[in-house]
Amino acid sequence: MNILVIGGGAREHAICKAVYRSKNNKLFCLMSNKNPGIEKICEVVSINKETDTNAVVYFAEKHDIDMALIGPEAPLQKGLSDILIKKGFSVCAPSKDAARIETDKEWMRNLLKKHKINGQLITECFIDSKKAIRFIEELHGDVAIKPIGLTGGKGVKVSGDHFNTMDEAEEYIQEILQNEIGGQAKVLIEEKAIGEEFTLQAFSDGIIILPLPLVQDHKRLKPGDEGPNTGGMGSYSSKDGLLPFVKKSDYEQSALILQHIVEALNKENCPYIGPIYGQFMLTNDGPKIIEINARFGDPEAMNVLPLINNDYITLCKSMLDKSLHQQKLDIKKLATVCKYIVPEGYGVKSMIGEKIDVDESLIEKSGSLLFYASVNKKDDHITTTSSRSLAIVGLADNISDAEKTCEEGLKAVKSDHIFIRHDIGRKALIEKRVTHMKKIRGM
Ligand code: AMP
Ligand code: GLY
Repeated sequence: MNILVIGGGAREHAICKAVYRSKNNKLFCLMSNKNPGIEKICEVVSINKETDTNAVVYFAEKHDIDMALIGPEAPLQKGLSDILIKKGFSVCAPSKDAARIETDKEWMRNLLKKHKINGQLITECFIDSKKAIRFIEELHGDVAIKPIGLTGGKGVKVSGDHFNTMDEAEEYIQEILQNEIGGQAKVLIEEKAIGEEFTLQAFSDGIIILPLPLVQDHKRLKPGDEGPNTGGMGSYSSKDGLLPFVKKSDYEQSALILQHIVEALNKENCPYIGPIYGQFMLTNDGPKIIEINARFGDPEAMNVLPLINNDYITLCKSMLDKSLHQQKLDIKKLATVCKYIVPEGYGVKSMIGEKIDVDESLIEKSGSLLFYASVNKKDDHITTTSSRSLAIVGLADNISDAEKTCEEGLKAVKSDHIFIRHDIGRKALIEKRVTHMKKIRGM
């Protein structure tokens, strides 16, 4: 089959590698940057914006594509799946309507309320800043302030983490309303959930889900979870599919929540096809829904996709013909640690165009995996853009060894202007999370 992957980040590099491992397929990719890792394993790449639907259709028709996979959220919001399906292509990604679960946070929260789904927070949307402030006062100031639409994971401000006073809250609300951050002059206020976060990704055929191992991402820029929120600085997963602070029953509850969301979407006449992503906060009252994404997570895709032994295209076909119930996931029993290399200044003002030397053979020798992200290729080296540059993933029998493997791989990447959160996957940070969770559970 001719498979088209849309997107040129590390997540899409992980998707391309999964397709490449599947037998008898030819890989094509359309992306806005020239990802050197993807380019290496593709028949043909097209450098175009992922949201340029005409360019995608043209490329798909030219190369007789049999199935398209869409990595990022922006083309989903643009309705790329629907447009490709109308042109007769198979698309293993959600429709524009189903993707509202990510692209419209007000719609998502209303869906949860309407279908009485577990794990909800107290939430309300406002177009009036005074009313929003009154609601924050009712919640004693413990809230998250969010734009309604997409902001690349950087639009959320949480009390105590990103602001402290009512004045600061009002200032951010005004900014969202006046500048229509996230596409609308509207703001979502959510009760602040206290606990530890985790990600559950799953495959969905619109009827059932097949859940994958849990992952914990690290959104904050700096070691010790300081600094601004980013797209994600790195992530880890355990051999048993749980996390050191998550019990099996928590995992089952969150999988049931995702299952019920998929059922709710079906009842709303927008069946969900493709990978689905649940971000949960584990509280003393169980997992609470922080956000749902209509795609794999980035970096979380790099933790789980290398663990899947199943033929990836067979899984995609099963999502498309609603036969996931006939599949059984075969997952490698390994822990993973992923660390992103980002340009110096990332999250504030990235240093763009800086040289990075990557010794691919040394990375291979270290036993770690390399996923290129948003970089430009120049002769024998690559250069930084404003976004994350590349990710290294270590796999091993336990998190500690996976972390060491990841660090071995990182030694093969050299630049004067890069930044890495080395604390991810290390004992001190994991113990901090376990202790925090015990305290929250009153243990
Ligand atoms: P999001 O872009 O919705 O994933 O939010 C970014 C980050 O803000 C999340 O990963 C959480 O750490 C935090 N956050 C979002 N919503 C809440 C909430 N209701 N309570 C506590 N933290 C939150
Ligand atoms: N890792 C967060 C996201 O993909 O949205």
